[in-house]
Amino acid sequence: MDKDEAFKRFGCVIGVADASFSVNRGEVFCIMGLSGSGKSTIIRHVNRLIEPTDGQIHVEGRDVMSLNAGDLRDLRARKIGMVFQHMALWPHKTIAANVAFGLEVQKRPLEQRKAAADAALTKVGLAGWGARYPDELSGGMQQRVGLARALAADPDILLMDEPFSALDPLIRNDLQDEFLKLSREVKKTTLFITHDLDEAMKMGNRIAIMKDGRIEQTDRPENIVLRPATDYVARFVSSISTLKYISASEIMTAGKTAGDAAEFGPSTPLPVLLQAFSDGASELAIKDGDATLGIIRASDVLDRIKEDLSRV
Ligand SMILES: Nc1ncnc2c1ncn2[C@@H]1O[C@H](COP(=O)(O)OP(=O)(O)OP(=O)(O)O)[C@@H](O)[C@H]1O
Ligand SMILES: [Mg+2]
Repeated sequence: MDKDEAFKRFGCVIGVADASFSVNRGEVFCIMGLSGSGKSTIIRHVNRLIEPTDGQIHVEGRDVMSLNAGDLRDLRARKIGMVFQHMALWPHKTIAANVAFGLEVQKRPLEQRKAAADAALTKVGLAGWGARYPDELSGGMQQRVGLARALAADPDILLMDEPFSALDPLIRNDLQDEFLKLSREVKKTTLFITHDLDEAMKMGNRIAIMKDGRIEQTDRPENIVLRPATDYVARFVSSISTLKYISASEIMTAGKTAGDAAEFGPSTPLPVLLQAFSDGASELAIKDGDATLGIIRASDVLDRIKEDLSRV
C-alpha cells in the first residue's frame, strides 16, 4: 500500500517501507529525497534513535536490534557519530566543552577531552575558537562545531542528517569541499542525508533516491543521471546536464577507425575527447588494451551535446 492510501484508509503515516541498502566501509553514501520522504526516519534507525516495527539493521556485521542497553550506548558513544538536522549546542558551555561533551559522558580524563576537542576543531577549521561560546559564532561556524562534536570521539561511522542545509550557498559549498577533503583523509564511513540533488551528486560515492518512504534507485551519481531507473528519478534529474558524467563509452559507436587514429580508454571524460578533436583528430579509437571497443567521430560528440542542451 502506498503512503497516500495508508493515510486515507488507516490514518497512518508510512515513514520508511521496503527500504534496503548497505554502505561500504569508507564510502560516503547519500540519501536524497524531498521533505517528508523518510530520510531522517531512516538514518535515525541506524543507531536506534527510532525503533523499527520490522526489519534489520547491521553495523559491521552486528545486529543492532539485538544489542542490550549498554552495548547500544557504546555503539552510539564510540562507534557512531551523528550530526543532527537541527543541531543544538549548549549555550552555556564553551565551544570546546560542546565538542568534548560525548567524551565527558564517556568519563574520559580532562586532558584527553581537551586534546580531542582541539584536534576536532582544527579539523573543521576552527582552531583557537574553543574558549568562545556558541552565540559568538556564525551559523556556519556552529554547524562546523556540530561536525567537530561528531568527530571528537573518532567514530568509524558518521551519520549526517542534512548537516549543511541551513547554510547559505557559498558557505555550504565551502563546507562541502572541506568535508570531502576531510573525508578522504580520515576515511569515515558516512551516511549523508540531503534534500538537494546537487549536493548528493557532489558528496556521494553512491546515492539512494527516496520517495514516500521507499527507495526508488540506489546507484553511482553518473548512473542516476544517465540511467534513471524510474520516471520519478528521471523527472528529478531532468534539469541536470549529463555532459559532466558521460565518458567515451557512452558516445562511441561500433566500428573500426580507418588508420592511425588517436587511442583513448572507455572511461575518458568528454573534455579530453573534445581536446583531441580541437587538436585536429577526425576520429578517435576507443580501446581497452588491444581490443577496439568502438570509434568516436566529432559529429557523435556534437550530437550528444546538442541532445543534452535540448534536455535542460
Ligand atoms: N515523530 C513522528 N511521529 C509520527 N510521524 C512522523 C514522525 N516524524 C516523522 N514522521 C512522518 O514520517 C514521514 C517521514 O518524515 P522524515 O522526518 O523522515 O522526513 P525527511 O525526509 O527527513 O524530511 P525533511 O527533509 O523535511 O527533514 C513524514 O511523513 C512525517 O510526517
Ligand atoms: Mg529530515
